[in-house]
Amino acid sequence: MSFEVRELRAGDASRCAELEQVLFPGDNPWPERVFSVEFAHPHTFYLGVFDTETDLMVGYAGLAMLGRPDDPEFEIHTIGVDPAYQRRGIGRHLMDQFTHTADTMGGPMFLEVRTDNAAAIAMYESFGFTTLTTRKNYYQPSGTDAFTMSRQPRTSSPERNGE
Ligand SMILES: CC(C)(COP(=O)(O)OP(=O)(O)OC[C@H]1O[C@@H](n2cnc3c(N)ncnc32)[C@H](O)[C@@H]1OP(=O)(O)O)[C@@H](O)C(=O)NCCC(=O)NCCS
Repeated sequence: MSFEVRELRAGDASRCAELEQVLFPGDNPWPERVFSVEFAHPHTFYLGVFDTETDLMVGYAGLAMLGRPDDPEFEIHTIGVDPAYQRRGIGRHLMDQFTHTADTMGGPMFLEVRTDNAAAIAMYESFGFTTLTTRKNYYQPSGTDAFTMSRQPRTSSPERNGE
């Protein structure tokens, strides 16, 4: 099985929404129109992983850049992998792209994750994320708590080091 990574466009929003229904059923899954708005936003970057045999999108993830370009912060807005394709390194590959971007730009990363989502937490910890705080009743309508996790960049940009 082989995969291709592409930047997502408006036409991919419906498949993202379809996957969200499966992956986040009790937590207000984003509909197609939310993905369309996210894709169009100038400071967000969405990637999809496609099965090259079927051209079906089997994973997606979105990163937002916040703050000034010379002092950015990054937020992972969402990440998900089709259950039939999980545990094959797709989530890790998407995270690699995003952490590389943040490291290259020298910015910290932030995200929220359900406190009971052991799989995602394990993945984030393996990328150096640590828990900053717990946000009560963050996810609705389930009322599940969230951890806010953060990760410092592995390298700083040369400009910020004065090199
Ligand atoms: C979290 C998620 C994106 C991981 O995607 P994936 O493609 O299955 O992940 P990978 O195969 O790349 O695994 C990456 C790491 O995640 C962790 N992980 C993934 N699934 C796991 C599981 N079932 N149990 C424990 N750890 C798990 C492991 O640390 C793994 O690294 P390893 O394979 O070296 O042990 C996927 O489980 C998913 O879509 N979950 C539902 C949506 C979701 O919870 N998104 C995150 C919202 S904050």
